Amino acid sequence: MTDLLKKLKKAEAAENIADLRLLISKISDELTSQNEQLIEFYISGQKIVIKTSSLQKDLQQIIDSKTIERAKYYLKRLINSLTEFKFSGINDINLNRWRDYDDILTDSLWIFNKRDSSGKHTAQYWGNFIPQIPNQLLRRYTKKSEWVLDPFLGSGTTMLEAQRLERNCVGIDLQKKAADVARKLVKEERVEFNVPENVKSKILVGDSTNPAFVNKIKSSITDKVQFIMMHPPYWDIIKFSGDKNDLSNASSEEAFLSMFEKVLDNSLDLLEPERYFAVVIGDKYSKGDWIPLGFDLMNMIKAKGHKLKSIVVKNFEDTTAKRNTKDLWRYRAIAGGFYIFKHEYIFIFQKSKRKK
Ligand SMILES: C[S@@+](CC[C@H](N)C(=O)[O-])C[C@H]1O[C@@H](n2cnc3c(N)ncnc32)[C@H](O)[C@@H]1O
Repeated sequence: MTDLLKKLKKAEAAENIADLRLLISKISDELTSQNEQLIEFYISGQKIVIKTSSLQKDLQQIIDSKTIERAKYYLKRLINSLTEFKFSGINDINLNRWRDYDDILTDSLWIFNKRDSSGKHTAQYWGNFIPQIPNQLLRRYTKKSEWVLDPFLGSGTTMLEAQRLERNCVGIDLQKKAADVARKLVKEERVEFNVPENVKSKILVGDSTNPAFVNKIKSSITDKVQFIMMHPPYWDIIKFSGDKNDLSNASSEEAFLSMFEKVLDNSLDLLEPERYFAVVIGDKYSKGDWIPLGFDLMNMIKAKGHKLKSIVVKNFEDTTAKRNTKDLWRYRAIAGGFYIFKHEYIFIFQKSKRKK
């Protein structure tokens, strides 16, 4: 890297555009001969990894500049991006090299054709979400070593992603069965992914509508979290247990929203002001009526004063079971005048400055 920097700095001294283009083209040619590679270097002790292809784009921009002033402006920006960090404060994305993060989604429509099945990720737990959801959100809204809370942990998808990304995570689920599954997967992945000792993954069995869990977390795990990932039951679409405190057993939509509100209030007690939380939820049909669970829940949260930052619409990927009944549902939709659910929502909020 120092060698590259030296050459870039030498190019900065060029007096005319032709000389500058020549020097930059030489650097670019040398990189081309290396094929696609990851270049690792350190800024203030922090490891940075960039792709040669990304560097090539920056060099090409300099070469294509029409004036020496423009070319030098791009060159200075490139040197800065290799020697200085710029962070937004809520993640580890180096804004000086934002072009390198081409797998970070920034559009509000997320289409995934396949769930990530790497490591211990599995679709076995009925109702779990695809790992790409927590992966995207954790990278956007948390930094390494920060704490993530998941009050509907299920099989632990959020926690697996968190520990891979070296975020601490505390998760709660009402069912011991689910917590046991999560505990096993999390433990196995720690070995498989060589997760550093200092990254903590804590699982509690409990009722997230009950504020008792907050005190437990505050007294024995952490007094603050920096992100909350919420993936509640979509009311009664999947019955997760026979427990009356299970949100999937709510007797009405109002009861469901009120139980969710309790979980939200409890969880927000732990979230640092102005940090982010996300809710993943889908709608449902009841006796032929579309119940907009997502928007009803979103409005309830907005009414509490939290800032709605984004509504992401995510597709439902086709599963084998769905593919087998596709024709039947298409017929029913055409005959009954309705549409088949193919999407769910990810609502992203910023916690208000007020406590709740
Ligand atoms: C949609 S699933 C979450 C799946 C999870 N995101 C995953 O990928 O495995 C909802 C979970 O909420 C849990 N749950 C329902 N009511 C709860 C409550 N009051 N407190 C804690 N967990 C609850 C259910 O047991 C279920 O595991």
